[in-house]
This record gives sequence, structure tokens and C-alpha cells, in this order.
Amino acid sequence: KSNAVITGIGGYVPDNILTNSDLEKMVDTNSDWIVSRTGIKERRILADRSLATSDMASFAVKNLLENAKVDPAEIDCIIIATSTPDYLLISTASIVAEKCGLVNAWATDVNAACSGFLYAFTLGSSLVESNRYKKVIVIGADQNSAIVNYADRNTCILFGDGAGAVLLEPTAGDQGVVDSVFKTDGHGREHLLVRGGGSMNPASEETIEAKLHYIHQDGRVVFKAAIKGMTETCTAVLQRNNLSIDDVNWLIPHQANYRIIHAVGDALGIPESRVKINIDRYGNTTAATIPLALWDYKEDFKENDNVILTAFGAGFSWGATYLKW
Ligand code: ACO
Repeated sequence: KSNAVITGIGGYVPDNILTNSDLEKMVDTNSDWIVSRTGIKERRILADRSLATSDMASFAVKNLLENAKVDPAEIDCIIIATSTPDYLLISTASIVAEKCGLVNAWATDVNAACSGFLYAFTLGSSLVESNRYKKVIVIGADQNSAIVNYADRNTCILFGDGAGAVLLEPTAGDQGVVDSVFKTDGHGREHLLVRGGGSMNPASEETIEAKLHYIHQDGRVVFKAAIKGMTETCTAVLQRNNLSIDDVNWLIPHQANYRIIHAVGDALGIPESRVKINIDRYGNTTAATIPLALWDYKEDFKENDNVILTAFGAGFSWGATYLKW
């Protein structure tokens, strides 16, 4: 049996920075509230309206291919996790494959909101473990600024844009992706979703008027469910692999709110020095938070480090993955 190991990482965030003081001019909020309630100081916004999610994903993939020194023609498959596809009909992955010259890759999308990267990562690693695919790219990318209502202070302070990508390849050793525990509960959908533009509420003047094309979130419900869900699945994956929290070198949680990250770390009993956090700089980039953290902190991960990735998102969808670096 082959394991799937990460052999390359790429990332991209737009240059344009939206600070808390910028938001103070747009809605009734203040920087102290945002920092104390969320930990976010600034986020990146794709300001160039001629660009979209596929462009950020393509920049991340090109960065990955350059770092890993891999020819685009060698890639067998790409999977992109996104909730902000360029178009409803056609995969964003097919556009990324074309933009990056991945002429031999098949390409598809995964939609699991903030858990999207973890779900796609498991699908990608399973393809590698099957021995049928040798080089699989998994991307998390979201242009949240396209679905955020910048007049709604409950949501507009939280989200940012960005993309991260990893290359998975087989290894004969025992490193790589070891195990995952994932959950989905569709009852959660009413608490976090974009109601308009799909088959339930096709886009129309009425859906625009009712602002159904924007993110709707019941923050408190999601907050509590996120702490519970990530803590439970991290605990389950540790138990299943006979690991104690002391064996974990790095916890890389989805970055939705610093208080959620802190509460999960506390519940698991891991010191913050072993938890990767970059929410202060990027906000919540949905499917991109985990690969962006891998990209930001890649120099810190050493061979055989035990790494736990965990996420919670709309759906609800959540889970934890254990990998040996
Ligand atoms: N500035 C100032 N005040 C605000 C703001 C703001 N930007 N936003 C809300 N408030 C007010 C509210 O109106 C409320 O006032 P009230 O008490 O008079 O009604 C008060 O602050 C407290 O509001 P809460 O919603 O209770 O604040 P909370 O501490 O829960 O923080 C937040 C809100 C940050 C949204 C938090 O609930 C959260 O992070 N939720 C989870 C987000 C998440 O994890 N999402 C999942 C992933 S996203 C995905 O999958 C796409």
C-alpha cells in the first residue's frame, strides 16, 4: 500500500488589504470589537473585478509547481474545494487546469464550505493510495468578497479571499495521510448558507431584492457547533490512532474565529505554541484557510511530525485528518 504524502505547497492572497478601520467606515463596527470577538485584524480582497476564484487558484497552483519543480503535464488530477465557483455550471477546476497548462489532468470541484479542503484532501489522497494516480493537486480557494454583503456587519468583518494548494504523491514509507474522521449534518444548513442563485431560488430580481445572493449566518449557533464538532472529531482521530495530545506536533484548525480556535485548543489540551494561527492577517478564507496555513508555516513542519488538520463549516460539515509529515 502507498501512502499519499504532501510534496509541494503553493499559495496566493490578493495584494489588496481590507483593514478593520476600513470596515469602520462601511458599517457600524469598531476595530476593538472585531479583534476581541474574532481575532481578525485584516483580510485580503480580490479587488480586480476581471479576476475570480479560478485565478487565485491558478496563482496558487503555479506557485506550487514552481516550488516543487514539477512539469504541469505530469499532473494526473486536480480537485478544487470552493463555495465560490466562477460559474454555477462548469467546474472551476476545469478552468484552473486550462489556465495552468495541466493538459493531462482530469479536474473536478468539491463543495463542503469551510470543510471543503479537508474533504478534497481525503479524496485526493485516496486516489494516490489507490496507485492509479501519481500526482494529484488539491486546492482550497474562495473569493468570499463575491458573496459577502458589505452592509451586514455580522458577516462582512469575517471573510477574506485567498487560495492554497498541495501536491500529493505516493510514498513507500509510513509518512503522509494516515486517517480522517468526517461528519455531515444537513440539519445545519439553515444556519449558514447562500439561499439564492441555485435551483431552490433561481436568481431573479426578487432574490436580488431580498439579498438572497449573500452569505446568511446565525453566528452563535455556528460558533458553538464548530467548537463541539472540531473537538469531537480531533479526539476521535487521536483515539483511533492511539495518539495522545502530547504526540501532536501541530494542530492546524480552520480559521473562522480566534475564539473558536482557542476553545478547541483548550478542550484538547494543546498549548497555543503548537497551534497554527493566521486568522489575524487573512480572516476566514473558507476552503483556503488550511492550505494557506500550510503554505504560511511550511518551514516549521519537520519529517515525521504528527499533524492534525481540523475544520467545521456550512452544511454542517466537519472533521479531522491525521497526517505524518
Ligand atoms: N461590530 C459590532 N457589533 C457587532 C458586530 C460588529 N461587526 N457584529 C455583531 N455585533 C453585535 C451584535 O449585533 C450583537 O448585539 P446585540 O447583543 O445587541 O444583539 C453583539 O454584537 C453580539 O453578537 P453575537 O453574534 O453574539 O457575537 P459573537 O460573539 O457570537 O460573535 C461572530 C459573532 C464573530 C460571527 C461569531 O458568532 C462567530 O465567529 N461565529 C462562527 C463563524 C464560523 O465559524 N463560521 C463557520 C465557518 S464559515 C463557512 O463555512 C462559510
